[in-house]
Amino acid sequence: MGLSVDENLVVTAAILHDIGRAFTKGVAHAVKGSEYLASLGFSKEVCLAVERHIGAGITEDQAVQLGLPKKAYVPQTLEEKIVSFADKLVEGVNILGPDHVLARFEREFGKGSPQLAMAKELIDFMREIYERSLVPGLIGWKSNERLNL
Ligand SMILES: [Fe+2]
Repeated sequence: MGLSVDENLVVTAAILHDIGRAFTKGVAHAVKGSEYLASLGFSKEVCLAVERHIGAGITEDQAVQLGLPKKAYVPQTLEEKIVSFADKLVEGVNILGPDHVLARFEREFGKGSPQLAMAKELIDFMREIYERSLVPGLIGWKSNERLNL
């Protein structure tokens, strides 16, 4: 069974996912960016993909601790997961493999952290899609070497 992906949604959200950084450098950039895009008339789907790209998802409790409006910021749809996952693979001017991403989450949040568990879940989901797909060049997947851009 094939998966249906709204490529236009993914590309639009991927390009605009950090637009909220024009307003704030912190984690709230996802919320600010989503609000800004909504004010410009972007679709609810684009706004949600932008809002939910942070971390590998942020639970409602974590959101409260971070000072975000009280709700979960966890990617739900395939498009949202693709945008969030792709964002995790990029660090500065480097593209990381999934093992590097997991190591970073472990380093930043700890071994038993919910953030690491959510990152593993997101990566496992994307790995399953990759293994079922015929996309040979999914960046960073086959190799865990850092790719310098
Ligand atoms: Fe971001």
